[in-house]
Amino acid sequence: MRVSVAQFCPKLLSLDANLARMEAMCSGLSTDLIVFPELATCGYLFSSMEDAYSVAESMPEAKSYQMFSRIAIQQNMSIVYGFAELDKDKVYNSSALINPDGSYHVYRKIHLFDREKLFFSPGDISFAVHEAKDGVKIGMMICFDWQFPEAARSLALAGAQIICHPTNLVLPWCQAAMKVRSLENRVYSITSNRTGKESNNEAEVSFTGCSQILSTIGEELAKLNATEEGIATVEIDANAAQNKRVTERNNAFTDRRPELYRL
Ligand code: ACM
Repeated sequence: MRVSVAQFCPKLLSLDANLARMEAMCSGLSTDLIVFPELATCGYLFSSMEDAYSVAESMPEAKSYQMFSRIAIQQNMSIVYGFAELDKDKVYNSSALINPDGSYHVYRKIHLFDREKLFFSPGDISFAVHEAKDGVKIGMMICFDWQFPEAARSLALAGAQIICHPTNLVLPWCQAAMKVRSLENRVYSITSNRTGKESNNEAEVSFTGCSQILSTIGEELAKLNATEEGIATVEIDANAAQNKRVTERNNAFTDRRPELYRL
């Protein structure tokens, strides 16, 4: 199958401009699965709850879902993207998987980072695995979830073959840490990061780009640089993630000793 990672610089609080940009990026694209960044629809550095409410979208009426489901159906591909999700009076930092039949699944970021705690409610649904195009099993985690090995482990133990990881990275360690997450779980990972800077009266953040697609042993199959905008696509065999064998006598899953772990 073909998998793609997208990298660009979303405009803060500009839902329509960001959707138009992502629609243009998808134009003519031939892939089976593409991952866009965290909060790709709306930018990152909110100043107030009013900012959050101004761009938050409810599923399935969300403009982003309406656009991406049309593209997923027309271009026969699965799409993962980050958005601000409104549910009653709460706003979640969420990602959606949209499939070529128009169906969708949502993940709500469980481990909120820094000022995100001011505006978003923490995710209230466990890590889950869903089928994408052709039945490939994917798990979603968002950005700072990388810090917690339990996130990727939960997804891998639930059968994920590919971890889809929309991000807005500001710390320098995630891209390296995800090599370990892929390797220790023997799963592919697609980390889609954004570029650019945002600032307000209270904070300034610079995003690190360097989006990547990693193999089940953490090899870089595709990598964008810190500032470029675009899409990288590679061919993978998703079934390689079924093989947890490390040596003739070792298996990354069946050698686990959970009865001796304190978690
Ligand atoms: C982050 O979780 N957006 C750093």
